[in-house]
Amino acid sequence: MLAIILSGGSGTRLWPLSREAYPKQFIPVVSDQSLLSETISRGLRLGADTRVMAITNEEHRFVVAANLQQLAADRTAGIILEPVGRNTAPAIALAALAAAEENPDELMLVMPSDQVLKDEQVFARAVAAGADAAREGKLVTFGIVPSSPHTGYGYIRAGGSQGAWSNVDAFVEKPDADTAQRYLDEGGYYWNSGMFLFSASRYLEELERFQPGILKACQAAYKGRKGDMDFTRVDKEAFAACPDDSIDYAVMEHTKDAVVVPLDAGWSDVGSWSTLWEIQPQDENGNACHGDVILEDVSGSYVHSEGRLIAALGVSDHVIVETDDVVLVADRNRVQDVKKIVNRLKEQG
Ligand code: GDD
Ligand code: MG
Repeated sequence: MLAIILSGGSGTRLWPLSREAYPKQFIPVVSDQSLLSETISRGLRLGADTRVMAITNEEHRFVVAANLQQLAADRTAGIILEPVGRNTAPAIALAALAAAEENPDELMLVMPSDQVLKDEQVFARAVAAGADAAREGKLVTFGIVPSSPHTGYGYIRAGGSQGAWSNVDAFVEKPDADTAQRYLDEGGYYWNSGMFLFSASRYLEELERFQPGILKACQAAYKGRKGDMDFTRVDKEAFAACPDDSIDYAVMEHTKDAVVVPLDAGWSDVGSWSTLWEIQPQDENGNACHGDVILEDVSGSYVHSEGRLIAALGVSDHVIVETDDVVLVADRNRVQDVKKIVNRLKEQG
């Protein structure tokens, strides 16, 4: 099996810790390892025959290469560099073309590089079940039981059970708030975890059926590739002409062969400071802290110091984050709006 590590997004919601130049997958948010390192290790621990392939951009190639070198030296299947970002459908297509060259039946476990998963045994069992389905030609999703009407996720309506997995009756990417609430009320829906498992050939077939333009552009880009040590650079002009779309909209909403394996393994996509607060160990007052922090009469807060001592007194439900050049103080229930600050800073240049 190939673990395909997607590392192309920029995630601004963990600002000021994550920056465009330094997105959250490169940051050690929950342990002393970056999310990227954790993801690579998680993939490797699935089995001795698993190799790791990464897809990223020019800017981040050295961090990704260093991580792979350190963790997966002899089990690396290469690093593909995208000259421009065209979202996940094309990124995964490039990986599938590379994998299929060696073996069209190769199973690809697509893993976003910026997620947290606590229980690896449960995860390994879900992947094993998913691999059985993928060998039968299914496109496997991993379903998380939803806990809120979050509009940033894909929603999967599970159909008939086939033992360890269920058919997918409907896949709806990022529904609006009312629809998400309706799904939650109706029940029977999962959140899409963003990980996928399928054979290289089946992904390419579905892409040809639903998004022939993406497949054509990726084939041309891959054909014009140039190799340089561990890096494969695809043809810039051909890839720039590729339509921009995510696998969720491009393939998963359309395919008839999707299945879902439920996953209850402490999954989180660390989408905001409040999620980080939720998944970290909390003290008796419901505070989660990182670094040098002193709290007096503080509750329900996430306090994160990268260097200087943070002292807080008499506040509740706050997020306080200190970095070299920025201090963020926010209402914990408003942290989705951190991107508003990021946008204002961008406007100011
Ligand atoms: N190489 C590469 N190139 N990677 C990319 C690109 C790209 O152009 N765009 C995004 N990625 C990476 C991101 O770094 C992330 O690891 C992963 O692909 C998913 O992209 P996101 O942009 O984070 O997607 P999302 O969070 O909006 O939605 C996806 O994940 C949700 C769960 O977190 C979807 O799959 C949803 O259905 C799902 O619920
Ligand atoms: Mg994401």
